[in-house]
Amino acid sequence: MRILVAAFSHIFSEVIGPNGSFTDSRGLTRDTFSIKIELESEKFNFIVLGDWGGLPPPTYTSDLQLNGAKALMEYAKINPPEYVISIGDHFYYNGVETVRDRAWERTFENVYDSQEMMVPWYPTMGNHDWLKLPEGTEGGQKGNGWAQIEYSAHGSGRWTHPDLFFTTEYTTSAGVKVKTILVDTPTLTGEYRDGAPRPLHSDENCEDPYNLDCELRALHPLDVDVAEWAWEWLDQELAKSVDADFLFVTGHYMILDTGGIYDWELFRRMEPLMEQYKVSAFFQGHKHTQEHAVRSPKLVPAGAEESPGTVHFFTTGAGSLYDTESTIFQQLTGGLPGRSGCHPRFEENGNDNSRSVCNYYWATTKKDGDADSGFTSVNVDAERARVRFVTSEKINEDDEFTVGYEFDINPRNV
Ligand SMILES: [Fe+2]
Repeated sequence: MRILVAAFSHIFSEVIGPNGSFTDSRGLTRDTFSIKIELESEKFNFIVLGDWGGLPPPTYTSDLQLNGAKALMEYAKINPPEYVISIGDHFYYNGVETVRDRAWERTFENVYDSQEMMVPWYPTMGNHDWLKLPEGTEGGQKGNGWAQIEYSAHGSGRWTHPDLFFTTEYTTSAGVKVKTILVDTPTLTGEYRDGAPRPLHSDENCEDPYNLDCELRALHPLDVDVAEWAWEWLDQELAKSVDADFLFVTGHYMILDTGGIYDWELFRRMEPLMEQYKVSAFFQGHKHTQEHAVRSPKLVPAGAEESPGTVHFFTTGAGSLYDTESTIFQQLTGGLPGRSGCHPRFEENGNDNSRSVCNYYWATTKKDGDADSGFTSVNVDAERARVRFVTSEKINEDDEFTVGYEFDINPRNV
């Protein structure tokens, strides 16, 4: 299938080496990692899977994760992916301590074990991957994200996690290039326990998410220096992506979803950049739903004309835990949404809550072992990138999975 067999086997079985470096304006230099693959086919699929981390020992997995994994593997038989983007919360609830943690085998290797899953997995970590147990806990504190990077040299070899921040570029035989920039969002804004970064004060200025002077609370980047380096690295990566037909960015935390802005720091620093550089979509997890939202036309910097958002935000964090409609929507809106739609309260206004426009919303209505989970499939050709939300729901007896929503993204016009 692949032309670059040598490059692929290198990725598949070893920790990939850096192929560049970047120095930020403060003088910090870090190695950079860009994985480039040329395909023989004119089109290809990839999967985005979030929040699939099973349960802690002794179970390691859950019925819900297994339901979703079965649906994913059945779907992949028909639509084999070239790779899987894994967007965090890989191991509930406290990550792994080392590359020898049994969770690698029990939560990952033995669960996603079909032939079609033996492709590169490109991860970016979630809060639970960094979440540590109290000091002195027997067996260690876990939450060691660096062990997840180190695991690239272990196991089945498909785990391909060269650094906290890296890129992939897949080019089809027709010359269609898909670039993905993976960012470790806890490193950027923190492994926060008291909610996402949001305004510290409720004064008028802080109503404007674009106001960088407005102080945010719960903002504790895991590494301030690396975070500042990463903001500059992201800017230059986006700037040099002009030849990408589809440009994706992905990270664990939601930036914008059907409820509005989630992480204000990510929104105010990343969303304008992504619009400026014509990013096609941002894939996010953290919330255990499937959603498609764009920025509301009303949400623009002070004094600017109203304009619709151009970046599609796809939430796909339903790999192994569930937020029922009641828990999530009561939190966000005080009401209940339709089965597979957006909140009725927004409908009279085009599903626009003044922060975001909701195009699609799904959460399982079942509980515990009966609940459904899901993942996202992206099918790319020269005409479009077709994003599909797939769930383990069985509408008919013989169903192995259900495609709940489909949306076509046009190639960039840069
Ligand atoms: Fe999370």
